[in-house]
Amino acid sequence: MPGLCAASRARVLSELAGSLYGPVPRPPDALEVSCQPWTGSHALWLRITARVGTGAFTVDAALWLPSGPGPAPLIAGLDFLGPVGMSADPGFPLDPDAVVSPRPDLGAADGRLRDAMRGASTYRWPRDLLLRRGYALLLSCYGSWVPDDPQAWRAHGVKPLIDPDGPSGAISLWAWALMRLLDVAEKWPEIDAGRMTVAGHSRLGKAALWAAAQDGRIRGVYANQSGCAGAALSRHPEGETLAQLADRFPHWLCPDPVTDPGALPMDQDRLIAACAPRGVYLAAAAGDGWADPAGSYRALQMAARAWPDAHIDTPPEIALRPDQPILSGPLGWHLRPGGHEMLPQDWVRVLNWLDRLSPASEDARDHRGRAG
Ligand code: GCU
Repeated sequence: MPGLCAASRARVLSELAGSLYGPVPRPPDALEVSCQPWTGSHALWLRITARVGTGAFTVDAALWLPSGPGPAPLIAGLDFLGPVGMSADPGFPLDPDAVVSPRPDLGAADGRLRDAMRGASTYRWPRDLLLRRGYALLLSCYGSWVPDDPQAWRAHGVKPLIDPDGPSGAISLWAWALMRLLDVAEKWPEIDAGRMTVAGHSRLGKAALWAAAQDGRIRGVYANQSGCAGAALSRHPEGETLAQLADRFPHWLCPDPVTDPGALPMDQDRLIAACAPRGVYLAAAAGDGWADPAGSYRALQMAARAWPDAHIDTPPEIALRPDQPILSGPLGWHLRPGGHEMLPQDWVRVLNWLDRLSPASEDARDHRGRAG
């Protein structure tokens, strides 16, 4: 059987939950979706309500569907601005409860979504390219699910709904959010539930990997410059350290995470390996040493043994040169010139990888993350 055996994967998930992220909470008791056109962006505006006991929480998302016959493969993601960043059209609401951490030039010192952010992240999710290549895109704002703020995150969204006093950090809760997007997508007639990919940039790449390690419905994960607590080895002495991350973003991890690399039960290569047999694509940038390209490539090489049909044997001296993309079986890698961003040129390569991925088989889809 490809991938880690069930017992090994369970051990990896439990060790990573215990030492770093806290567990991904159980699915909600119910999930309801309403839908209306967002004509200004040729999209559907979805309102998703998750219910747990007597509690409920409602969040917005947008879905773009390609034209053409047959159900489409899906790319689902959380974004720093969400659908608001995808169009200048004011038809999508600004969530007053969202707390986000967008680029400083967007002037959001208080972390609140505002009109100036409309259309500011279209380059991160090149919708027309994705649609032209036949992919549907489902996006939501990460800060609506879990406010990205060490004070505010407990007050709104997923945390108070399902884990008020529990150990799950925001990365786990964003992974939970991605799984809810898949709950919605897998029932959508125009979406091919066997071909659902999750994607994310940076902190949201960390969450995408953690979701892909848990949820058998995912066919592939694209983690862009996910760095520390993402694809980069914690024991590799470059880039951000766990201690720095835990200090600046205490809400991202479980309470009292293990930040001494020597004391970790395992390194991040196991997180990547736990995604097998699903596809994994990692992208890095030459100017983004903080996200540790070399430590991420090494982790991918170490993890690759979990895929019998992948061989990541390109020496690092070559793989870490700009524009030497690698595709092997369900795995992919590239490093491009430039800095910390997710760009259309990254997506061009990612789509080449995605086009080759075979659908998640019914057998592989164990539905562990599905809402009841
Ligand atoms: C900070 C943080 C990183 C994170 C990044 C981002 O730089 O230190 O761990 O990946 O923000 O999400 O953009």
